[in-house]
Amino acid sequence: MRLIIDTDTAGDDAFSILLALKAPHVTLEGITICNGNVPFDQQVENALYTLEVAGAGGTVPVWKGCPLPMLRKPVDATEFFGADGMSDAGFPQAQQRPEDGHAVDFLIDTIMSNPGEIEILAQAPLTNIATAYVKEPRIAQNLKHLWVMGGLDNSIGNTTPASEFNFYVDPEAAKIVVNAGFRLTLSTWTLTMSSGLLPDDKLRVIEAMDTPLSRFFMTISQAPFKRTEMRYGRPLSTHPDSLTCACAIDHAIMLETADCLVDVETQGELTRAYSSICTPLTPDEAEIDFLWPSAPANARVIRKADTNRFAEMLIAALAD
Ligand code: BDR
Ligand code: CA
Repeated sequence: MRLIIDTDTAGDDAFSILLALKAPHVTLEGITICNGNVPFDQQVENALYTLEVAGAGGTVPVWKGCPLPMLRKPVDATEFFGADGMSDAGFPQAQQRPEDGHAVDFLIDTIMSNPGEIEILAQAPLTNIATAYVKEPRIAQNLKHLWVMGGLDNSIGNTTPASEFNFYVDPEAAKIVVNAGFRLTLSTWTLTMSSGLLPDDKLRVIEAMDTPLSRFFMTISQAPFKRTEMRYGRPLSTHPDSLTCACAIDHAIMLETADCLVDVETQGELTRAYSSICTPLTPDEAEIDFLWPSAPANARVIRKADTNRFAEMLIAALAD
């Protein structure tokens, strides 16, 4: 599997990178950084440090992408992840430096020179992917698969009641991407809350492992633990990005999927970035529900994932 990860590296984004690095059948062709969780250059440093701590410094190029959303003012998640995105761990600067050139050009060049071979895991706001598509629309047909973490599958959000963070930050980009014709699998925040919370016993296993990577995991999880305890009454280990990566690199982790019609609200006041997700109606249903969207499905939505299999993959990735 030839994979590119598009990321706003902070917290769980880093664990996702580790999963891809540790999977023997995955070649991580590059990491592209998009605006999102924390200040842009800090995200670049977090990705570089993650490679270094995994013993992969200098082996995977890191490209800087779009530092701002398409139309909106930037929104970050420093409240959740800490000012540096890594629970204010104060990690040293990695030796590897980012590449010269732009992530969007790297994406286009890599996809177009390897038609049907490259997969992208998009685990950040979709500015880089939408910009690449607008610049070279043929990437939609030439990309093997696009895995997106974003949106809500008819549930309450983590950013507003109606929206999930990645879609909220850049709703226009999300709308462009879901309507671009990519072969697309969507992993929503709804899935994170149902299948992407690390069970307490697995968390204890990671804590007890005491390896450099398990210590890295525990260190950068501290701010999210505090934040989720305030929000949900107990600390949660939430894994939107790493669960999506796990599904991409081991399809058996997807227990239930549905081909759906997905679109993104860009006009709403209270519903900015709301993701409309439904299965296409049968002709009979369409006669009754005549105001429902009637286009064919444009995405496969993951509705249930194997939490234990995901957790075991994560534990194995943190073993050294
Ligand atoms: C998504 O938002 C970000 O804060 C996380 O990194 C994840 O990609 C979850 O809504
Ligand atoms: Ca992310």
